[in-house]
Parts: sequence; C-alpha cells; structure tokens
Amino acid sequence: MAEPILTAEGLGVAFETPDGTVRAVTDLSFTLNKGECLGIVGESGSGKSQTFLAALGLLADNGTASGTVTFQGQNLLDLTQQKLNTIRGDRITMIFQDALTGLTPHMRMGDQLGEVLIAHQGLTKTAAPQRVLDLITRLRIPDPEKRLRMYPHELSGGMRQRMMIAMALLCEPDILIADEPTTALDVTIQAQVLHLLGGLKKHTKTSIILVTHDLGVVAGLCDRVMVMYAGRMVEQALVNELFYDPKHPYTRGLLASMPRLTDDVGDKTGRLSAIPGQPPNLQDMPGGCAFAPRCAAVQARCHTERPPLTQRDGMRRLACHLEGAS
Ligand SMILES: Nc1ncnc2c1ncn2[C@@H]1O[C@H](COP(=O)(O)OP(=O)(O)OP(=O)(O)O)[C@@H](O)[C@H]1O
Ligand SMILES: [Mg+2]
Repeated sequence: MAEPILTAEGLGVAFETPDGTVRAVTDLSFTLNKGECLGIVGESGSGKSQTFLAALGLLADNGTASGTVTFQGQNLLDLTQQKLNTIRGDRITMIFQDALTGLTPHMRMGDQLGEVLIAHQGLTKTAAPQRVLDLITRLRIPDPEKRLRMYPHELSGGMRQRMMIAMALLCEPDILIADEPTTALDVTIQAQVLHLLGGLKKHTKTSIILVTHDLGVVAGLCDRVMVMYAGRMVEQALVNELFYDPKHPYTRGLLASMPRLTDDVGDKTGRLSAIPGQPPNLQDMPGGCAFAPRCAAVQARCHTERPPLTQRDGMRRLACHLEGAS
C-alpha cells in the first residue's frame, strides 16, 4: 500500500517583479510515496524547479509560496529557516544541475563526505575517512584517494555530481530531489550518474524526485510521472501508462519529440522543444487551458474554460476537455 512521504496541496509560487506578478506554480497538488521515484517533466519555465525550491524554503527574495507541503506531519512552508536547515541535507537532500551549489567550496571532498558520516551515522573522526574511501571506490570513481583530497571546484561537473550522489548515499535521506542532475553532463557520464541513482533507489529506502527534460531518463528510473505545463499539473500517471497511452495533447507532443530508439544516436538529448509555439506569459495567463494556443486538437471551449484536473482510470490524473472521464 502506497504510503505518502511528501504531500503538496494547492501549492502556489508567485514572484513580484517590476512588470507584475509572475505565477510560476499554481494550485499544484501531488504526493510522493515512500520508496518511489517520481519524475517531473515539462518544458523550460514550467515551474519544476520552483516547486521544490519553495518546498525547501529556497525561493528567491521576491518569491512567496502558498498552500501546504507536508512532510512528517508538518507544513514545510510554515517552518523557520533554522528548522528547514536541519531538514535540508539531512532528511531531504536536493542536488542541482550544477552540483557546485550543494557542496561547501572551502572543504576537501573527503572531509565533506566524512562529516556526513560523523553527523548521520555517528562514526568517529578516525573511522570516517576509511568508510568514505570504501564507498567512493565502490562507486568506481577513478583515483579515489586523489579525488577525495580535492576541493569541489577542482573536480569536473560529472565528478561533482557523483560526489553529491555519494553524499546522498551516505546520509540516506528520506527524500532526494534531483533537479536535472545530468543535463550538464556528457552522455557517458550521464549514464554513470543515472546508474548511481538507480543504485540509490534499489539499495536504500530513499524516495526520489527526479526533475528532468529527458523522458528517456524517466522511463529508466521513475515509477510515476507528473507532467507540468505553465505552472500546473496537466497529467500524471504510472510510467507505463504515460508512455504507452499518453492522454494530454501536451504529453503526446513531448513523447513525439523524443528521439526513438531506432533513430541515429546523433541527438540523444531528448529535448522537448519540438512542440510548435511558446509557453504562455506567466504574468498574463490565458483564461482557458494554458496549452490551447499550441494544441493540435484544440476546441472552442478550451480557450475559455480551464479544464479541471480530474482522476481517471488507474492512477491517472488529467486536465483536458478532449478526453472525457473514462
Ligand atoms: N526570482 C524570480 N523572479 C521572477 N520570476 C522567476 C524567478 N525565479 C523563477 N522565475 C520564473 O518562474 C518560472 C518557473 O521557473 P522554474 O525555474 O521553476 O522553471 P523550470 O521548469 O525548472 O525550467 P528549466 O527546465 O529551465 O529548469 C519561470 O518562468 C521563471 O522565469
Ligand atoms: Mg529548473
């Protein structure tokens, strides 16, 4: 039976700018279950990162969050920065597109990883270095001793990303939020990082949220997928349901823009920009369905009535007028 570990209800994120209010996330409700990997996909600017930055109290100064994000019985949005600090990096870890953001610049990698062990697993200062070295060796990071003596900026992007995942493996957080963890990396390193994430999923109880542009990555790792468009959820389903039977025209567009296995491997980036047109201006949202101006199957009412998100068969949730509730 699925047991929720993180639940967002009516989450909103708004930024005040000189040109008006930017609504980055609107009325977003979703659940992450224990032990599952939830994929979040959507084009650039659809609100993926701000959703999780809001949950962890990391929004920019001009941003405010509304609604609730419940973790262990408390609304994260109500907590003080001090309380959030103890949750971040302990119970909930976030890794970013560039892992430099999550590492302490003036500490050698070995010391950073060692500190995690001392803090989370109660190891002594003398025992920690050997355990760190064991883990890094097991992760097949080449030249482990040399790498552990380095500072974060001395490592390559892919190596930093692997160190971040090692850190997550050491502290076994309840939740790991990986925001585009492989976007900046080349294909070989991507594969290694994904392999590590797969190991984390398999060997620990950590629940994973994986934010990505790459539907191939979602197919390989995630149990469930949430598709976002212009700050809202438009579809959610189990991975297989979504890949074999996408219902929302936007989801269909995303899948159609994905390179096929039979395609030449030249462009394996899975970029989602192939849907014609642009996402709407978040400062001036259209009255009806936000996707209507780009939708190949648009009907008259889509321009005036926003389709509510409703529960469909199985685990699916969908916000579209075209697909009647079945
Ligand atoms: N401080 C800010 N002030 C105003 N607008 C902001 C601010 N931070 C983010 N936004 C806007 O919020 C929207 C959602 O941003 P978000 O970072 O969540 O997108 P994303 O889905 O993660 O995109 P990407 O795939 O490019 O990372 C964007 O339109 C962005 O410009
Ligand atoms: Mg982002």
